[in-house]
Amino acid sequence: MFSKLQQRWKVNGLQLFLILCTFALGGSLCGYLARRLLISTGLEKNGLWVVLYIIAMTLIWPLCVLLVSIPFGQYPFFKKYLTKVWTRMTRQKSPVTHVAIFASGAGSNAHKIIDHFQNNGAVKISLIVCNNPQAGVLNLAAARKIPSLLIQKKRFYEEDAYLPELARQHIDFIVLAGFLWKVPVTLINKFPNKIINIHPALLPKYGGKGMYGDKVHEAVLAAKEKESGITIHYVDEIYDHGNIIQQATCSIEENETPASLAQKIHQLEHKHYPEVISHLLQATNNS
Ligand code: GAR
Repeated sequence: MFSKLQQRWKVNGLQLFLILCTFALGGSLCGYLARRLLISTGLEKNGLWVVLYIIAMTLIWPLCVLLVSIPFGQYPFFKKYLTKVWTRMTRQKSPVTHVAIFASGAGSNAHKIIDHFQNNGAVKISLIVCNNPQAGVLNLAAARKIPSLLIQKKRFYEEDAYLPELARQHIDFIVLAGFLWKVPVTLINKFPNKIINIHPALLPKYGGKGMYGDKVHEAVLAAKEKESGITIHYVDEIYDHGNIIQQATCSIEENETPASLAQKIHQLEHKHYPEVISHLLQATNNS
């Protein structure tokens, strides 16, 4: 418990001890002063004295704690702490939907999505999550001043799946845009029907583990398909499996190559993905 508090408040052992002393002494001082106040005003004879006592405690407590924090050398910590508590208490529920984009590569889809929502007061791209330190999408995040989060496999799959970081950015909705890791159940359970993916083929064909980017286009051409396309779908525990939201198709020419097909697919993705996200978020907000 103590080590968790140390991590949360980013303090060392001694500072944690002084902070806890401040809480204890500040609390006692507050209780004493609230009682004195009720006695001196005669209110302690009132039948509602318990309620009045709690109100007095609540009002006096921040002052007492701040006062006691000075001799303990913890004034800066408590000033910040109380400001945070006050901001949380007074903050109105934000009407903005905060979106996180998860991507592993160049980020051309992420780029289009960011552009699409950049002047939208109701939707904010608040976080870029990436598993690949070399990914172009990280440069994009930096250029657009969007916070980014580089994730590690162990914590993503075996620990808290970075839920605290998502909560810190108030994330309501997750968009996978070329994200090549499977989404852990912890995340799916936390965001039911609020994680969507785009796949560069017409699912249920040409999906599943290992099917991404050019591998998909090569498989489609090898099977001599006459058309391919994109699938936007909800994410569940199985790769490329959740309910389909929208598909769009393109034809395949005789001399089609994986590269030329990829280009056509990217065009479809850039046209449809931002629009679909927009419709889904409007529908969610109106429900
Ligand atoms: C997109 O074509 C997307 O459909 C695909 O990765 C590409 C990412 O491009 N996703 C998958 O293959 C997932 N199975 P981008 O980084 O330029 O947006």
